[in-house]
Amino acid sequence: MITVMGATGRTGSRICQTLLEAGVAVCALGRNAERLASLAAAGARIAVGESHDAAFLTEDYREQQAAQGEAILTAIRDSGVRRVVFLSSVGAEVPSGTGPIISMHDHEQRLRQLPPEMDVLMLRSGALFENLYGALEIVRAYDCYSDAVAPDVPVPMVATRDVADAASRALLEHDWQGVVIREVLGQRDISYAQATRLLGAAIGRPDLPYVPVSPQELEGALRDAGCSASVAACYAELGEAISSGRVRAQEARSPANTTATPFEDFAQDWAKAYRALP
Ligand SMILES: NC(=O)c1ccc[n+]([C@@H]2O[C@H](COP(=O)([O-])OP(=O)(O)OC[C@H]3O[C@@H](n4cnc5c(N)ncnc54)[C@H](OP(=O)(O)O)[C@@H]3O)[C@@H](O)[C@H]2O)c1
Repeated sequence: MITVMGATGRTGSRICQTLLEAGVAVCALGRNAERLASLAAAGARIAVGESHDAAFLTEDYREQQAAQGEAILTAIRDSGVRRVVFLSSVGAEVPSGTGPIISMHDHEQRLRQLPPEMDVLMLRSGALFENLYGALEIVRAYDCYSDAVAPDVPVPMVATRDVADAASRALLEHDWQGVVIREVLGQRDISYAQATRLLGAAIGRPDLPYVPVSPQELEGALRDAGCSASVAACYAELGEAISSGRVRAQEARSPANTTATPFEDFAQDWAKAYRALP
């Protein structure tokens, strides 16, 4: 039996489907029975529950993540799980100044406390293409895309399905021992300016501009949009961390960390979603 946390998510749902198709018994963990229903219909055992309550009692992002991380570690220990694939991120080796990636750094450290006979794979992916669905409304409202990442910094960007497939393959083949780190870097590095041009081209706007803002401006915009102070500060810090190279791949590109799906494929899906905006 393989247990998938975040089974209703973009990556988790594809991992569940792949494992079920391979004939493996899957326990899909989620917070909402309705969102888990399609996995139950596909043959997964489902388990519904909230993560540790402390997570909902604190405003601080890192504290919130720590409470969840501790609960997950306890569950792994108590359940007799023997191997873990953790969806981590490029930059998780850096202990501070990386925004939301800090929680993945912290969780990697927690997983290292598991008994030495356990096999733990830290799958460090680049930025998921699908994050850019968040650009749909911005492009429509402002006729540009905007973020706090410098325009020409090459960023490893990867399709969710390629990360899910790397995780599924590892779970099915169990081709590592002990604590191992693997990067999943996508088909090629793409800058935010290039990504914006490619998305623009897919909607007939090849000149769509990318407008970089300062981390402070992003933080203010996120606060105005209703994010908590700690989440807004976190994402502003991420922009600076990518621009400065603090968050970057550690491995040289190789067939092992390079995946198939080009950004252009995602741009077509993104354009469909753009055209379907109400
Ligand atoms: N986005 C990136 O660029 C990026 C890069 C590197 C690594 N990653 C990591 O990759 C992982 C998967 O990303 P994704 O885009 O596939 O995620 P996603 O689509 O946003 O899905 C998140 C999943 O986590 C569950 N979840 C969220 N908060 C939870 C909580 N407090 N307790 C229990 N379950 C909770 C959600 O369940 P519900 O259906 O109940 O909401 C959902 O199943 C994440 O851990 C992310 O940090 C992401």
